[in-house]
Amino acid sequence: RTILLEVARYRPGEDDKPVFQEYDVPLMPDWAVLDGLNYIKDQLDGSLSFRWSCRMGVCGSCGMNVNGEPRLTCGTFLTEYGEGPVRIEPLKGFPVIRDLVVDIDDFLAKLSSVRPWLVREGEELPLTTEYAQTPAQLEAYKQYSMCINCLLCYSACPVYVLDPDFLGPAAIALAQRYNLDSRDMGDRFDVLNLDDSVWGCVFVGDCTRVCPKHVDPAEAIQRYKVTAALRSVLPWSRR
Ligand code: FES
Repeated sequence: RTILLEVARYRPGEDDKPVFQEYDVPLMPDWAVLDGLNYIKDQLDGSLSFRWSCRMGVCGSCGMNVNGEPRLTCGTFLTEYGEGPVRIEPLKGFPVIRDLVVDIDDFLAKLSSVRPWLVREGEELPLTTEYAQTPAQLEAYKQYSMCINCLLCYSACPVYVLDPDFLGPAAIALAQRYNLDSRDMGDRFDVLNLDDSVWGCVFVGDCTRVCPKHVDPAEAIQRYKVTAALRSVLPWSRR
């Protein structure tokens, strides 16, 4: 048995517009969509471009739109789609570099803007202190630390697709990952308390629905709205 994959092909600067190319690939019970793409690359058409690395839902590089839904292609089985066809496109909302490869520079700049690391003040390197945390302190941010930067949430977000200046789900969730860490001394209020940041979210919730790691960016955003509102009346309230 085989299944038909309709794969978006596009080379900006060379092609007028994206087209779909059809490939029949074996429908194996243990094959993910990524296995189908690798079969095409290895056996049918070596010119197809797409990203992947770990094949186990960890690196976050294999995100694509599969039949209109942002999915990790290494974690999406071909058998989910019955007899097919399966339409595979690049993640919506990002410029296409080639075929299924998108440009993620915009996300990387936004991510840097929230300082996604532990901010400490008044310490000299090398650090000699151990900062132990209780299970409750770990639990406070653990959910957000599961993000693998796969960008499925951006592709699903109607605000980001319409307004590229929107800071976006993963960057805000990762800001909260550090805001809620008992070891962090940073203040991300100026980046988060903006119309193009948490206040731009209209709480559709598709970011949370498509997240393969159950990070729940929609919850992170609504939660920071409460923090930001409290700070407007209680300026000393930080988190
Ligand atoms: Fe790494 Fe899919 S290949 S998450």
